[in-house]
Amino acid sequence: MQDGFGRTIDYLRVSVTDKCNLRCIYCMPPGGVEWVPHREMLTFEELLRICASAAGLGISKVKVTGGEPLVRRGLTGFIRALKRTEGIGSVTLTTNALVLGDFLEELTGAGIDAVNVSLDTLNEDVFRYITRTDGFGKVMRSVNMVREAGIPLKINCVPMRGVNEDDIVPLAEFARHERTAVRFIELMPLGPGANMEAVSEAEIFELLRRAFGELRPFDGRLGNGPASYYSAAGFAGKIGFISAVSHGFCGACNRLRLTGAGLLRPCLASDAAVDMKAVLRGGGDEGAIAGALRTAAMLKPVRHDFHQTDGYNKRHGKKNMSGIGG
Ligand code: GTP
Ligand code: 5AD
Ligand code: SF4
Repeated sequence: MQDGFGRTIDYLRVSVTDKCNLRCIYCMPPGGVEWVPHREMLTFEELLRICASAAGLGISKVKVTGGEPLVRRGLTGFIRALKRTEGIGSVTLTTNALVLGDFLEELTGAGIDAVNVSLDTLNEDVFRYITRTDGFGKVMRSVNMVREAGIPLKINCVPMRGVNEDDIVPLAEFARHERTAVRFIELMPLGPGANMEAVSEAEIFELLRRAFGELRPFDGRLGNGPASYYSAAGFAGKIGFISAVSHGFCGACNRLRLTGAGLLRPCLASDAAVDMKAVLRGGGDEGAIAGALRTAAMLKPVRHDFHQTDGYNKRHGKKNMSGIGG
């Protein structure tokens, strides 16, 4: 499927829940957010119908996100069903890993292709500050289990000024001995992150260059996302950057987002959405579902407006990232 600017849309991010078992400072306000009531959420059957229809339009990669996807009961069954859906090749999961260890065997059995773990620090106190939760030990245990199981793993870190800058180099070390990719995500001015200070890619790059020597651009493909990758001498894995603000990647955007509440969102930065729940529960047939997917693709803006300052914080600052799925 193509969007209005000729971009090929072959990747769907499905946020299965807005609930989370952490409260990260860049994602949630201190008091947390009000969860969407269960009856308002699409069932797994409904999500699967949309995914099957999307596969018919050329979506071959599905990323399962949240909130924290593993807090939704029955997730591994959903992943198994996705893997059996005709046209869907790759099904991957992005998780905070708090309970990942408990589900790893089931996920492997379901056929999960790769796992991304959000890990912003290697310091227990900083972890408690960022996530407002204890659980560093559990997360690290899960990460080690994924490594031992040999499941392709990527680490996502969002560096924040004055919070976890000291973790950048130690986290990158994960890529030294294993094929793990460690990605640094520029904090986007979305949700509570809109009121925090980002660390730019240029700054992170310089820190890493000083620690590990030259970083050489890596041209091969790794996953389906917007990261750009680099190799460092002696490193088995790669260092990646996801820098929506300083190195916009909208020109290569390949994705749509489906929220658990059934909104199909053309772009992380856009308020536009197609109400898939209304289509499904209004008795829409396969043609109607496919039509709604095409409409969402045509609503994709050419690029985000993160640089625009006028009235912008007000709009983006209110975004509920845990409901959209990052
Ligand atoms: P893989 O590399 O295939 O694993 O995919 P990915 O990088 O898309 O997956 P992941 O869920 O780990 O995404 C990492 C982060 O990238 C997200 O949490 C967002 O912060 C950011 N991101 C992903 N897609 C977009 C996008 O379309 N626009 C913007 N601005 N940021 C995105
Ligand atoms: N900026 C960048 N990434 C964010 N995420 C959530 N909020 C933001 C933000 N303001 C993404 C991060 C995190 C995932 C759960 O959501 O990638 O690891
Ligand atoms: Fe943190 Fe992700 Fe949960 Fe948001 S959804 S609170 S970023 S773990």
